[in-house]
Amino acid sequence: MQPARFLSTVAILSFVFFFGLLVAEVEEEKKTFIFLVDPKQKPSPFVSHSHWYSSLLPTSATLVHHHHSLFSGFSAARLTVSQARSVGRCQGVVAALDDYLLRPHTTRSPSFLGLDLPASRLSATSYGGSAAVIGFVDTGIWPERPSFSGRGLGPLPRRWQGRCDQGNGFNCSKCNRKLVGARAFFAGYAAAFGITNTRRGDAVWSVRDHDGHGTHVASIAAGAPVDGANFYGFASGIARGVAPRARIAVYKACWDEGCMVSDVVAAVEAAVSDGVDVLSLSIGATSPAPSYELDPLAVATFRATIRGVFVSASAGNGGPTPQSVGNIPPWITAVGAGTIDRDFPAVVLLGNGTRIHGTSISLRHHKYLLGRRHQATPVVSAGIVAALANLTNLSVVGFIVFWKSSGHVSRIEIAAELKRLGAVATIVFHGEFDPGGIVAEAHVVPTVTVESQGAATIDAYLKTVKNPTAVIYSQGTAVHPGFGAPVAASFSARGPNPAVPWVLKPDLLAPGVDILGAWTGSVGPSGLRSDARQPKFSVASGTSMSCPHVSGVAALVRSARPGWSPGEIRSALMTTAMDAGISDEAVENGGGPLAMGAGYLFPERAADPGLVYDLGYEDYVELLCGLNYSARAIHIITGGAGVRCGDARAGLWGFNYPAFVASAEDVTLMGEAVFQRRLRRVDVGKKGQWYRAEVASPEGYAVEVEPRRLWFDGSGEGERVEFSLALRCIEDSRNNGRRWWWKGGSLTWREEGGKKRRVRSPIVVFSISDM
Ligand SMILES: *[C@@H]1O[C@H](CO)[C@@H](O)[C@H](O)[C@H]1NC(C)=O
Ligand SMILES: *[C@@H]1O[C@H](CO)[C@@H](O)[C@H](O)[C@H]1NC(C)=O
Ligand SMILES: *[C@@H]1O[C@H](CO)[C@@H](O)[C@H](O)[C@H]1NC(C)=O
Ligand SMILES: *[C@@H]1O[C@H](CO)[C@@H](O)[C@H](O)[C@H]1NC(C)=O
Ligand SMILES: *[C@@H]1O[C@H](CO)[C@@H](O)[C@H](O)[C@H]1NC(C)=O
Repeated sequence: MQPARFLSTVAILSFVFFFGLLVAEVEEEKKTFIFLVDPKQKPSPFVSHSHWYSSLLPTSATLVHHHHSLFSGFSAARLTVSQARSVGRCQGVVAALDDYLLRPHTTRSPSFLGLDLPASRLSATSYGGSAAVIGFVDTGIWPERPSFSGRGLGPLPRRWQGRCDQGNGFNCSKCNRKLVGARAFFAGYAAAFGITNTRRGDAVWSVRDHDGHGTHVASIAAGAPVDGANFYGFASGIARGVAPRARIAVYKACWDEGCMVSDVVAAVEAAVSDGVDVLSLSIGATSPAPSYELDPLAVATFRATIRGVFVSASAGNGGPTPQSVGNIPPWITAVGAGTIDRDFPAVVLLGNGTRIHGTSISLRHHKYLLGRRHQATPVVSAGIVAALANLTNLSVVGFIVFWKSSGHVSRIEIAAELKRLGAVATIVFHGEFDPGGIVAEAHVVPTVTVESQGAATIDAYLKTVKNPTAVIYSQGTAVHPGFGAPVAASFSARGPNPAVPWVLKPDLLAPGVDILGAWTGSVGPSGLRSDARQPKFSVASGTSMSCPHVSGVAALVRSARPGWSPGEIRSALMTTAMDAGISDEAVENGGGPLAMGAGYLFPERAADPGLVYDLGYEDYVELLCGLNYSARAIHIITGGAGVRCGDARAGLWGFNYPAFVASAEDVTLMGEAVFQRRLRRVDVGKKGQWYRAEVASPEGYAVEVEPRRLWFDGSGEGERVEFSLALRCIEDSRNNGRRWWWKGGSLTWREEGGKKRRVRSPIVVFSISDM
């Protein structure tokens, strides 16, 4: 089945699901469903669960996956909506959930994060994360890359249960003390795309990465140190993962067109049973299910979290549009993308002498001038390019082509087409998706990316001059510590959280622009089949790249502080994040805490936050109660029986999350929003300790914290103290006609004396009406 047809089938089916009257007309459309069952209700005649599941299904359907660790149930393909509904009504079947498609969200970064030995206490106390295993649900791995060498690593953690799937194209001997697991999940994908001849062990269904994405993200989180890494001379130096000694377990669930959630959930289950400490998901859905109990991935990740697995995921690349953030269930840590202190400057020198600064990694040699040295080349504009079709009949032979991308086009493909049409180089402006931001892309034709102001100057120059020319050249790699970074990338997805606005999303920012990582040997860095380049490393940008930075730091913290729960690790990451001096590439639309969450990942402080906001099973249940989830929905998500909801409002405002978020409308309606929180002391000091509240109120709001000092008497690690924070509007500037969509402030608990630890949380008021 072609992808387009597949997607339209999904659209038709979900339409039908809500408008039952149309069912008869399209009943032939079949797809995969994920059924959750209550194993205690298995009718006794069936000797096994497989027999029971088979008995529930019409003969035309096929079983795709059995689920038995995170939840009980099965995925089954080739069912119509009405067949799925009737299976859903059978005794013991708890829920019938739709399958859907996810897609991958597309080094110097560890030293920018301060993780270089020997100065880093975190790297030292965690032994580089060697006790932790990170599971990646992605496009697989290219195991021969030196980033995945097991040299110098000790034996595997004892509890590790994972394995490597032998296959044509992926030999088990590729697994080692670094790459400790490698498994492939494709039955759901094959069913959705009508692929019938799948055999486990075939080259095409092996764990080997034919895309590059999975190899790149795994090396970012946990790659071994590699000397002399670079991308055609750019970003050269030692490449190493954030947690260079952490182990990598690969769960391949993403294939040519993306990742079916039925396979992703099977992969998550396998990873948790194998014993991963951290799950790294650089993938996301374009339109996720409206409610957690309808989303198999939300259910699976909830249960993984309760089992102690830290789940980090990419926040998405749909910024700077408000509410574009994805992977938002409160138990997932959603990571936005920021810049680092390294870039790849390039110059467009216009014929009239004006220099435009941009970025490029496709001009191969530093100070290389296009054509002969200093020879100016004619420039022509291709205008706005929204599709390959816009390029037909362009005559650009021998020209540098200036163009502006628009919509969801593949810029790499457009530039490749321009090359095919005879362009010698291109200058691109990333258009409305990334107006202020410039990211370097692995184009197959020399290409300089410029931002909006540079683009406007080039436009003006081309309009006023008869025979416009330019010289373009690269200035290599520039590193400027302490200057100009970090910045929230304009493509990085923004809050507020579209489903549960009281829970801040994204949670935090991490490096995600122009990141060097290991690359597949199967396809060039542009991803185009025609690209014959075979570098060992490539440069890529996206929240896909920022997520594994957090996964790596979570692995370090887990190694250094094995007793902490996922919620406590996240609290530590958020409350120690860097918040000052972070600007936003999308200046006019600056998202503040809605773009950067609690701030920019600051690993060195994360293992020693002093206090954490802990979060466990009951907290999540109370939140769901506060959101008016039915007992049935809560049962589907948690698997727990007999949930009774107490005071629903407490669930919303008392959810022990390390951020304080309210809508201006709610605050006005209630007069005052009162948040309840508790802190757990996690430093090992035995003496009593005071912490003092430091408040920065959002403009126009008053914030009262009660009490203003917290006393921890040193009675032990489990010691908890509660406080409340009240937020009141004192002056809404909108009454004077000023529009705003967020106001930010913060609450910082400062340790008195001692180590002067700081535990900082953002306070955010957002406005629904002005968004
Ligand atoms: C896997 O690798 C081992 C050792 O290199 C080799 O002996 C074996 O034949 C390989 N197996 C397959 C199926 O390629
Ligand atoms: C460019 O392509 C888009 C999308 O196919 C189309 O709507 C638009 O009319 C085209 N513009 C030009 C100038 O051809
Ligand atoms: C391209 O050129 C061909 C032949 O000259 C013509 O038939 C066609 O209409 C042109 N297409 C566009 C989009 O201008
Ligand atoms: C070159 O042309 C651009 C666009 O018209 C203009 O902004 C710029 O000032 C010019 N540079 C010089 C040196 O005249
Ligand atoms: C839950 O339901 C109550 C009563 O209908 C309503 O007042 C409240 O706003 C609802 N809460 C949410 C978060 O929708």
